[in-house]
Amino acid sequence: MASIELRNVRKSFGVVDVIKGVDLSIKKGEFMVFVGPSGCGKSTLLRLISGLEDITSGEMLFDGQVVNALAPSKRGIAMVFQSYALYPHMTVYENMAFGLTLEKGKDKEEIRRRVEKAADMLQIRQYLDRLPKQLSGGQRQRVAIGRAITRDPKVFLFDEPLSNLDAALRVATRIEIAKLHEEMNNVTMIYVTHDQVEAMTLADRICVLRDGLVEQVGTPLELYEKPDSIFVAGFIGSPKMNFLAGEKAAAFNCTTLGIRGEHMQIKPDGIWEGTVIHTENLGADAYVYLEMGTEEPVVVRLEGTAQHHSGDRVRVSPLEDKIHRFDEAGKPIR
Ligand SMILES: Nc1ncnc2c1ncn2[C@@H]1O[C@H](COP(=O)(O)OP(=O)(O)O)[C@@H](O)[C@H]1O
Ligand SMILES: [Mg+2]
Repeated sequence: MASIELRNVRKSFGVVDVIKGVDLSIKKGEFMVFVGPSGCGKSTLLRLISGLEDITSGEMLFDGQVVNALAPSKRGIAMVFQSYALYPHMTVYENMAFGLTLEKGKDKEEIRRRVEKAADMLQIRQYLDRLPKQLSGGQRQRVAIGRAITRDPKVFLFDEPLSNLDAALRVATRIEIAKLHEEMNNVTMIYVTHDQVEAMTLADRICVLRDGLVEQVGTPLELYEKPDSIFVAGFIGSPKMNFLAGEKAAAFNCTTLGIRGEHMQIKPDGIWEGTVIHTENLGADAYVYLEMGTEEPVVVRLEGTAQHHSGDRVRVSPLEDKIHRFDEAGKPIR
């Protein structure tokens, strides 16, 4: 386990500033998730923590020690990427053992014990003699995670590890990673994703990045319920929070009104009128999209199935104690 601290960390590639002064403390054993729009610097920040990239200025500390100049191999980290990067000519066992065979003083028995333990955790023991090409995508990604586990790292770094998997495998592997975090004596994990559900379900805390800076850090529920900016409000949660401006917002004494789909109610005495333009029945719940003169359609989330049809005129109201109000700078009015 290790705590990680970033103090005013910056990274430039030539004249391009990519990380613009990040302060962040990650606790021992914490599961920290980085989210943010494509290109905001998530992968770069992860690579700075790993040591694969040098920081341009600032300080990086592991367990209170400055590691700015410490090589990646000395940091006690293991990385899992989106592409599995397994050796195609090696068996699963050999792939998982490879890093260990390079370390001095590891005997064969110790290596076998570690590989088998990792394989058991990930339920891939029956595949140890296979080649990667004989495995499904999900199984291959488990091998890549297993290879990281055998190295017994203090810190796991994941960069969108599930984005090449289909929906069902993503869910199964996501649960596997959550279990892993519990089983491994709460080893520190930093996980980059653009998937809302992964971020909300895996994270102890989420760090929202925007254009090379930290926008907000907090537990998933803190970010969901108390976003510090209109940016975080719009970024966290699916479907996206509805934003209403103009007269509708002015009536609530703010520049912008933010209302989540589940906090909108369709009812005969609703305060606003809208026209149904589309409905999506997902099974357990339904999304009804309304044209209400806003920039984007307003989505209302209903439990069960929707009985509304395109063209229907409906009235809606927000749940008043659930509304978010933002001032002209995009900051919350509480
Ligand atoms: N080696 C590099 N050289 C120049 N620019 C880079 C390099 N790596 C990343 N960048 C730039 O830094 C920005 C952030 O990239 P990245 O960290 O990959 O974003 P994210 O993972 O959030 O999508 C992008 O504009 C990208 O083009
Ligand atoms: Mg990336």
